[in-house]
Amino acid sequence: MYALASRATRGVSLMCGIIGRVGRDDAIESLVTGLENLEYRGYDSAGVAIQNGAGIKVEKRSGKVTELKHALDYGSLDGEVGIGHTRWSTHGPPTDENAHPHTDSTRDVAVVHNGIIENYASLKESLRAAGHTFTSDTDTEVIPHLIQQYLDEGLEPEAAFRAAIEDLEGSYAVTAMLAGEHVLYAARQGSPLVVGLDEDGFFLASDVPAFLEYTDDVVYLEDGDVVVVRPDGIEFTDLAGNAIDRRPETVEWDPEQAGKGEFDHFMHKEIHEQPTSLAQALEGRLDHDAHDVTLEHFPPGTFTDIERVQFIACGTSYHAGLYGSIAMNNAGIPTTTHLANEYEVSAPPADEHTLVIAVTQSGETADTLSAMRHARDQGARVLTVTNVVGSTATRVADDVLLIRAGPEIGVAATKTFSSQAVMLLLLAQRLSQDLTGASLANLEALLADLQSFPDAVERVLETTDGRRLATQYLGCQSYFFIGRGLGFPVALEGALKFKEITYEHAEGFASGELKHGPLALVTPDTPVIAVFTGQEDTKVLNNAEEAQTRGAPLIAVCPEDHQATTIADAHLPIPDVTPELAGLLANVQLQLLSYHAAAGLERAIDKPRNLAKSVTVQ
Ligand code: M6R
Repeated sequence: MYALASRATRGVSLMCGIIGRVGRDDAIESLVTGLENLEYRGYDSAGVAIQNGAGIKVEKRSGKVTELKHALDYGSLDGEVGIGHTRWSTHGPPTDENAHPHTDSTRDVAVVHNGIIENYASLKESLRAAGHTFTSDTDTEVIPHLIQQYLDEGLEPEAAFRAAIEDLEGSYAVTAMLAGEHVLYAARQGSPLVVGLDEDGFFLASDVPAFLEYTDDVVYLEDGDVVVVRPDGIEFTDLAGNAIDRRPETVEWDPEQAGKGEFDHFMHKEIHEQPTSLAQALEGRLDHDAHDVTLEHFPPGTFTDIERVQFIACGTSYHAGLYGSIAMNNAGIPTTTHLANEYEVSAPPADEHTLVIAVTQSGETADTLSAMRHARDQGARVLTVTNVVGSTATRVADDVLLIRAGPEIGVAATKTFSSQAVMLLLLAQRLSQDLTGASLANLEALLADLQSFPDAVERVLETTDGRRLATQYLGCQSYFFIGRGLGFPVALEGALKFKEITYEHAEGFASGELKHGPLALVTPDTPVIAVFTGQEDTKVLNNAEEAQTRGAPLIAVCPEDHQATTIADAHLPIPDVTPELAGLLANVQLQLLSYHAAAGLERAIDKPRNLAKSVTVQ
């Protein structure tokens, strides 16, 4: 079975879908089918480019693939070579201009790209100086211009493509076509790209579902691979042009299931995507040499006139906000957290020295948008931490920090929570420097652990016992999640996830609160799941023991050699990391526990009853 987490998505970009076709039949139909199949990778704009007798014809539109389909003039799009793209924005809003494919000024080169070109600004500057003009806000547009530049300098097409690829820093899967050629050029570095082989030609795509209707014979490209695809053959080489051996294999996927890969539900897939989504969130944002973080648009000094921070958010995003606020308060930054729907009715004072941070993965939550507008009316500076470029929140806010998690299809927020929390830790460092003049107390350890954090999450995913424990404790009366400090929002989030998808009763508590009332509910039929982050664990353990003494089974989420394991009835292990990240590893275990409990109960996991992914009413 195809191992999605380790091969298709590990260390690569989840954003955007690429499809390319070189064959002996018209390409347009298979390109559009491919885009529809890839919409789970991004759906804010889409486009195709076809090589026909008259050169390269490009059609692209903001919106879903259906918008593009309605706009296509199939008569003018006959041709056997083409590329297509469905986008999840990272640079520039989802407009027609920012949609892929992108071309150079002469339209002799068309390119689709998935990933992030980190050095695009400097490349753009040099290309501008050489006379190139740009029409989009994207990082991708530099690629066709670079290829054109090398063609102008006299390089042959393949050499020009390789030279352009060599100039790129960051992650990419790139597919390019040149006017007048029946060839596709493609390269992979850090973003997935797979070749499909059928009797009439070849496909290139971000993922197998793109072309599964046509073929199940595939070749997975590796980082550093460059391929040149013609109707009658394909060359696999490294960047220097040396031939490499890549063997086809046959995948056993059902097309209907394909968007979920090997998983039964999008939620489970998205939980497993976290090593990748976190790597994406962190890409280019850690500066070990400078012992600092690098947040685009937020250089040191950005927040020197800020005196206090207020978080506003709902649901899972509120828990991420609480997580960020604990890190900020620990750093000496006066920070409060508010449910967005309560913010206006009990509004804390805010002025131009207040930074209001609106956390919202969708950027469309009505409660959060309303609170953002209220904060702006008070004169506060509003920053949104979101996953969706061009969302309403990005337009209401003064500042935007993108979490780059890629589309999240399951109603239950999973990978967006971990990326939100990690981004807030980075923001805590920037605010700490600007407001207090000092870095976070344990910055060195945090930077080191962040570097390997995607691997730590991978270890949790590989070793979890969540399915067995979920089965063992299925059917209990109630489930209590407890934690202290950074473990508290994780407990709240664990309970929310559990109730949301299992429909069983679950509550999250600050562990110290158990004895102030909830302990009355504790029986042998109420498992207590305790989160240990390394912050005041002895107190959490005491609180957990108080429940255990009353008969509650105790499940400890903590490192292997933790003292809690000596008394706990069951253990969900996490790697030993700084408290700031331990809570997030524990959260992955809790996501899996909820998922497997809900799967055992055969719930509608991706679309739980009565809930919607984006809540656009107040
Ligand atoms: O899009 P947002 O982050 O603003 O959504 C907020 C909540 O509706 C959301 O987090 C909700 O609680 C999740 N579906 C829970 O898994």
